[in-house]
Amino acid sequence: MKSLKIKGGKPLSGKIHIQGSKNAVLPILAASLLGEGPVVIENCPVIGDVKDTLQIMEKLGCIICRKEEFVCVDASLADGFVIEKEQASRIRSSVLFLGALLGKIKKAVLPWPGGCAIGERPIDLHLEALRELGAIIEEYRQPGREQGEKNAGVLRADGKRMHGAAIQLRFPSVGATENIILAAVTLPGETIVEHAAREPEVDQLCEFLSLRGADIKREADTIRIRGGAVLKPICYRMQADRIVTGTYLLATAASRGAITILNFPNGLDALLLLLKKMGGEIQTKDQSLTFIMQRRACAAGFVETAPYPGFPTDLQSPLMAVLAGADGSSVLKENLFENRFKTAEELIRMGAQITVNGNCAGITGCDRLHGSRVKASDLRGGAALAIAALQASGITTMTGLEYVERGYEDIARDFRLLGAQAWVEQEKERRPDIRSAENMEDEKRRE
Ligand code: EPZ
Repeated sequence: MKSLKIKGGKPLSGKIHIQGSKNAVLPILAASLLGEGPVVIENCPVIGDVKDTLQIMEKLGCIICRKEEFVCVDASLADGFVIEKEQASRIRSSVLFLGALLGKIKKAVLPWPGGCAIGERPIDLHLEALRELGAIIEEYRQPGREQGEKNAGVLRADGKRMHGAAIQLRFPSVGATENIILAAVTLPGETIVEHAAREPEVDQLCEFLSLRGADIKREADTIRIRGGAVLKPICYRMQADRIVTGTYLLATAASRGAITILNFPNGLDALLLLLKKMGGEIQTKDQSLTFIMQRRACAAGFVETAPYPGFPTDLQSPLMAVLAGADGSSVLKENLFENRFKTAEELIRMGAQITVNGNCAGITGCDRLHGSRVKASDLRGGAALAIAALQASGITTMTGLEYVERGYEDIARDFRLLGAQAWVEQEKERRPDIRSAENMEDEKRRE
């Protein structure tokens, strides 16, 4: 078991190039199943979710070549349409292969994507939309298991009679929007998606497909797809990851530092506005952005998460970590996922003053956060604990690093590059009955 260790007190400073976008490359990899290969992706992030996605694609018959951040996919001979339960359970975004396989070979069999630590993650909007496109999707449920649980059942889809359609999403779901695009882009006829997600990652998927020959246009929250084009091979470079970028800006605020992001992506206006309100200074030059907060952050007041262009839910936990050490009180309201405040418990172990009430969390900033042994239980919650560790006195040990590695190439490497004392240690498996000195110390503190 690997753990991340950080000795707090060092402000982040320096320049950094941000990895490619996880939430853009996952739908783009699914889209690489479509049309004529090969597809080359540059600046592809070297993360767990990409590794799992490429394994699924190899099982479908794709030829995959990979060298660090270069990935080449040739799906010309891929004729598989069954996604294995074991693989799909590791990565929820495997649900995007439903749309891609319907788009490619008009059939798909895949396990019901599981929920995760942040919420049940239903796919009703995906299924409703694909059925409006004419897909026949049978749901085989495991008796006694709720949707969202692991191994909750199997989906079997038949797309032989699919057609363009006008779809109105009840909620601007990112994944449902992407699944509709993946299924419709090869369908003859026109598909119009109203109330579509506006996240930049959806636009990157549309750009990728348009450059290959697809006819996709966005007007505000309506996406119009004239399907049936032959998709050509392409070499496509991923933009910087918007959420990793936001994470590192928040880490800079927590550590009272100043960093320059060399390849700053679009789509972070809500965060930049908030960081300025908290006392940060922003300078931009060409593609780079310098963020300076060499003082204790002011509290944020009231912040709520919302679909783009609102404040991103994926930065809610990292922001909570900054507010735990800020000057003053703040309230965070999480509107997208029902269980995205789990990190608060771990931050409290570090001395944070947080009260959670339903989908609201009240944070009273204190400047006495201390290192502790904490546990990540989801991707962005783990990143938040790393941020808290930067501003805590002493050493923080965070287990559950494998969650963070699903979306961050190497957070210890990046923080070290920016001047922090951060490293990864291999830990012996801990027997639950052994109460280490560290744990006993922690328990004493909490009493
Ligand atoms: C994408 O998840 C991202 N993942 C998430 O990032 C991100 O938090 C989320 O969009 C919101 O921005 C990827 O892109 C791989 P949604 P997705 O469908 O597509 C409800 C990270 O940390 N909903 O927009 O699953 C759902 O329960 C991850 O990188 C339905 O009710 O998000 C949630 O409350 C975490 N029915 C809300 O919509 C559905 O059929 C947002 O979900 C689908 C969604």
